[in-house]
Amino acid sequence: MITNICTDVEMNSVNILLRGGTVVSAINAKKQDVLISGSKIVKVGRFISDKNAQVVDVSGKLIFPGFIDAHTHFDLEVSDTVTADDFESGTRAAVCGGTTTIIDFATQNKGESLSTALNNWHLKAFAKSSCDYAFHMAVSDFNDNVKEELPAMFEQGVSSFKAYMTYDAMMLNDEDLFSLLSSLKDMGTIVGVHCENHGIIKSLTKKYTGNNAMSVSTHPKVRPSIVEAEAVGRLLSIAMVVDVPVVIVHLSSKESLEVVEHYRQKGCKVYVETCPQYLLLDDSRYDLKGLEGAKYVCSPPLRKKDDSKALWKAIKTGAVQTVATDHCSFTLEQKNVGLEDFSKMPNGMPGVETRGVLLYTYGVCKKRISIEQMCRVLCENPAKLYGMYPKKGVIKAGSDADIVVLDPKTDGFISKNTHHSKADYNPYEGVRTKGKVATVYLRGKKVVENGELILENKGKYVKRDKNMLDEP
Ligand code: URP
Ligand code: ZN
Ligand code: ZN
Repeated sequence: MITNICTDVEMNSVNILLRGGTVVSAINAKKQDVLISGSKIVKVGRFISDKNAQVVDVSGKLIFPGFIDAHTHFDLEVSDTVTADDFESGTRAAVCGGTTTIIDFATQNKGESLSTALNNWHLKAFAKSSCDYAFHMAVSDFNDNVKEELPAMFEQGVSSFKAYMTYDAMMLNDEDLFSLLSSLKDMGTIVGVHCENHGIIKSLTKKYTGNNAMSVSTHPKVRPSIVEAEAVGRLLSIAMVVDVPVVIVHLSSKESLEVVEHYRQKGCKVYVETCPQYLLLDDSRYDLKGLEGAKYVCSPPLRKKDDSKALWKAIKTGAVQTVATDHCSFTLEQKNVGLEDFSKMPNGMPGVETRGVLLYTYGVCKKRISIEQMCRVLCENPAKLYGMYPKKGVIKAGSDADIVVLDPKTDGFISKNTHHSKADYNPYEGVRTKGKVATVYLRGKKVVENGELILENKGKYVKRDKNMLDEP
């Protein structure tokens, strides 16, 4: 097995002193200097001096811990095609947008062992990644052999798993879900689940096929929010019986949030992830003609403005713990396959590059969330939940020097012409942004300058530990 574990022994020849910026954490934003030595942050405070350091004036800038995107799909074979972005282009896009660590889904094909799946993903990512990377293990075929492999996964730094409640090729039934959760219960690992009711989706799809109504505008109709809410409730019932915490990935609707709240009241331990597309886009996009609507075909589908409002509020109140992207990119040519029949269209959209600036512009600047809350959902919470804290997710002495220098005074707009994904469209084309990811340090190395990658393929595998995020 090939791994390139982050050993943190590489050293820069001179220390770097970031002077005069506002350092953001999940609890405050304070004017502080940051001293970097080699791959680590060694000191954070006012008026640091180090005569051997290269001083970088970052006054007027916001200094965030490197963002963590715990939900990407790079180099994934799905719907008889493969995602437009592999680890090379996907991690370039990520780091140019300030994301210094991604967690992708190593995915077990049916009949395959977990170790084969993990090895496959190491091969996909090794020596091609421009930000650090880790893997969740998506279990598509649960059996006794797979159960025996679970501790070995954890030993190799895979401290989180994924299960799908829909998609023929990957879904687990309730019994297997129960067994997977039970098997992992005492390991301190966490399972993220794609919650949608498979039977309803299949039945509604059949109905619309019979009616010859298979254009993109039907996509949200076969996956209404109750399809998600039902599966969320079923998952949480299973998790409560097993007595184990779970994560709901890419939660999209107010109705599902209400189900989560109901179960939390009963003592259920559940973490929630949402994504920028559910905060900022709505289902009117599916009425756009031809490939315009196809750009937004993802599952769960985009919802109503009211759902987005509820999700922003849930970030503010702490009911949602993380914002990831579910970056799963395809070109328009790939999307075109399903233009006459949306059920054949590869699901997903790009987003790994734009998450930070969108949350800053439409969350912080619009006063929907505070800058500390932004840091919590992009940095600290994912680091804790996925066993990387305090190595990642925080700017403090001893942590990896993964740092985003965000210039709050530079406005811009999003475009496929300037993004780094291989997708030939951007779902946020023309959207105005406030603030720009100016510089990014990855374990002490400046890898992005002026929004462009200047040092590539410096990403390393991150071995992760147990979940340590307090239950909501
Ligand atoms: O449409 C989506 N979200 N595609 C990616 C796979 C998944 O369901 O997370
Ligand atoms: Zn999913
Ligand atoms: Zn996904």
